[in-house]
Amino acid sequence: MNTLVQKNKKNLPIGFCDSGVGGLSVFAKFRNIMPNEDTIYYGDLKNNPYGSKSKDEIIGYLRNTLNFFLDKNVKAVVLACNTTSSVAYEYVKDEYPFIIYPIIQSSAKILANLGFNKLGIFATKATIQSGVYESEIKKYNNNIEIYTKACPGWVEIVENQTFSKPESIELVKNYLDELLKYKPDKIILGCTHYPFLTNLITKFTDKSMLIDPADYFAEFIKQDLIDKNLNNSSEKTGKEEFYVSANPEQFKVSGELFYKIKDNPVLI
Ligand code: DGL
Repeated sequence: MNTLVQKNKKNLPIGFCDSGVGGLSVFAKFRNIMPNEDTIYYGDLKNNPYGSKSKDEIIGYLRNTLNFFLDKNVKAVVLACNTTSSVAYEYVKDEYPFIIYPIIQSSAKILANLGFNKLGIFATKATIQSGVYESEIKKYNNNIEIYTKACPGWVEIVENQTFSKPESIELVKNYLDELLKYKPDKIILGCTHYPFLTNLITKFTDKSMLIDPADYFAEFIKQDLIDKNLNNSSEKTGKEEFYVSANPEQFKVSGELFYKIKDNPVLI
């Protein structure tokens, strides 16, 4: 690639996508460590939650999202969504001219080598059924015992901000109890919405039990962009744009817990 093309490519924005506000847990960490990148976030609220949908539906949602980013001329798209990473990434990964970073596959090596022998995983039904968390982690460490628990209903608590309802608290406790039965060393929050539930989960277990893969994922993306000489080297703070397929007001309010969105998200 000639120098001018490479320099121009470095300045292109990075896309982030999820079914709703969950991906903001990744977005916030990334903004923190790479503040000079221009970023575009897309929340597919019209189709939320993804976790209870069929494989074909989830692949369709991801293709729509990636086509949107194709028009935006991005250099990379971050799948800040475990469900699309596990169910749909394999099907679309070679169809686009930009880099695609799936959260599970990008963080698995680090998660596998943290030194824990028994890992619990909370994730959506679609992610758990795919078996991708286990297969990716076991690629790097076959000795780890993995216990999984699908958590239908948790994404809705976050999107609808029903944290203090007794039913929400009970649902969190029930799934947690089921996973704790296996006595895991740590529990991976395998859906990007779940870090928003930390205050609820830690009513019943210690915060040190929880692993948010977003921490490792953001570092992985940063290092990979630098290695590929695709990091934006400008000194300016990068721009942020937010788009949603439904409910822009709800997105702004629910997302506030993780990220202060200055302008109103654009409905597309
Ligand atoms: N936050 C996404 C994930 O990480 C999607 C959750 C959903 O829409 O069910 O899986």
